[in-house]
Amino acid sequence: MTLQSFAKKGVWLFIMLSATAISLLSLRFLLPNPPHVAPEILENYINHKTVFLAHVTGSLTALLIGPWQFVTGLRTKIPKLHRWTGRIYMITVLIGGIGGFIIAWSSEYGPIAVAGLALLSVVWLYVTGKGYLCARSRQFQAHSKWMLRSFALTAAAITLRLGLPIAPALGYEFDTGYIALSWASWIINLGIVEIYLRLNTSDFGGITKSSLTTIST
Ligand code: HEM
Repeated sequence: MTLQSFAKKGVWLFIMLSATAISLLSLRFLLPNPPHVAPEILENYINHKTVFLAHVTGSLTALLIGPWQFVTGLRTKIPKLHRWTGRIYMITVLIGGIGGFIIAWSSEYGPIAVAGLALLSVVWLYVTGKGYLCARSRQFQAHSKWMLRSFALTAAAITLRLGLPIAPALGYEFDTGYIALSWASWIINLGIVEIYLRLNTSDFGGITKSSLTTIST
């Protein structure tokens, strides 16, 4: 195993573990009185409970399923499973994205956060829809690329939560960090995936089976 493929596997393992941890922690919103919730978020949750719960349930399922869709062994050995979990991913992004768009407008963190989160929802739905249409029309290279972008956006939930302690640690208000992350969490992820795709597509014009194998298996 080369150092590069070892590093890729390490990154993927970290993504899988943090996606699972954040999904499981988000399950607390399904409790009657969710614990450890910032007062601003609690306000939004109380005022828009049904949509908020739809958003959390859909999104945490997408985050839980997403990383497994890139495991080459699963995709090639059990393609039926990949297709079914892919359909579930699509539906959960649809629910999470529409719910996210609706609750974004009542975020207590102000207009910059509202704009960042609402735009993230629209881009998430668009990119995932493109990935689905490419699969339907059997353009599998393009499908892989769009789904990697889609998961980068799903994983904004990871970047946002990992980034939250940074602003207070630097002496800024928690709210300032939240507002910055409502944009940075997804723009950074999308940027990293675009660089990854460019580095891996120069020879092949598309994401290759081998490059996905090295990330994920
Ligand atoms: C990628 C697109 C997403 C968008 C646009 C989005 C949007 C939002 C919005 C607007 C809120 C309310 C924030 C506020 O009141 O200020 C929220 C909260 C929340 N979202 Fe998402 N979200 C996304 C992805 C996810 C994912 C993938 C998860 C999976 C775990 C998730 C789980 C949650 C949870 C648990 C909350 C409650 C607040 C918290 O614990 O931080 N979201 N989201």
